[in-house]
Amino acid sequence: MYKIVKKKSLNPTVTLMEIDAPLIAKKAQPGQFIILRVDEDGERIPLTVAGYDREKGTVRIIFQIVGATTEKLNHLNEGDCLHDFVGPLGVPTHTDGYKKVCVVGGGVGCAIALPIAEKLHELGVEVHSIVGFRNKDLVILEDEFKACSDKFIVMTDDGSHGRQGVVTTPLEEMIKAGENYDLVITIGPLIMMKFVVKTTKPYNIPTTVSMNPIMIDGTGMCGGCRLTVGGETKFACVDGPDFDGFQVDFDEAMKRGAMYKEFERKAYSEACN
Ligand code: FES
Repeated sequence: MYKIVKKKSLNPTVTLMEIDAPLIAKKAQPGQFIILRVDEDGERIPLTVAGYDREKGTVRIIFQIVGATTEKLNHLNEGDCLHDFVGPLGVPTHTDGYKKVCVVGGGVGCAIALPIAEKLHELGVEVHSIVGFRNKDLVILEDEFKACSDKFIVMTDDGSHGRQGVVTTPLEEMIKAGENYDLVITIGPLIMMKFVVKTTKPYNIPTTVSMNPIMIDGTGMCGGCRLTVGGETKFACVDGPDFDGFQVDFDEAMKRGAMYKEFERKAYSEACN
């Protein structure tokens, strides 16, 4: 059993938890994920590691309440336990050998982008961060991004905080202004990552995307997380979650993601009733 040692609401639909899991805390790296089950009969959900404290032996997760399982998870409190917490899984984000990197996060994807920005900053890389949200009530981790970024821009769709518009606008402005990024890393909704890739491709700036499809076993056996990268089938759980954004078939990934929407909506409304 894995105890919840801290719980904090970051906005009305996003929650942070720190879980007592010393073995995972010892090994976890930015970009990797865990799979958890709330209880014995629960479904397995993957969540990317949003931070870790090797001394305290805790792993931080940040999740959006989007379905039945995240709703159940959000009902737990400090002192309660998770039935399973398995990891770290997946390949860590590659962070060595860069001089200047732009990290582009969208919505709850910023929770995954933050430890990557922090690690790059620790390594002495110049980090520019651009984060986007629908409105000011949904903004998370702003101070944390500011602390590890040489440049920081926050965008909201409605202009209620930061600049109004989408993340690709300042990204393109900065590229055109001569910021010679040797990498762009983007994490967020598929549609956002697709457009980040469209923005960087004409300038040939290597772009890493973090794919978070439906996962079941997290070990490369079930095929649930498959996606097409460079014309080949890859499994996000063992080959990713990071991939070369120029090679990912986003349209297929979006279609696969939409397949389970109705099922998830039903399960969610049952969990809420
Ligand atoms: Fe089953 Fe990746 S989750 S193959």
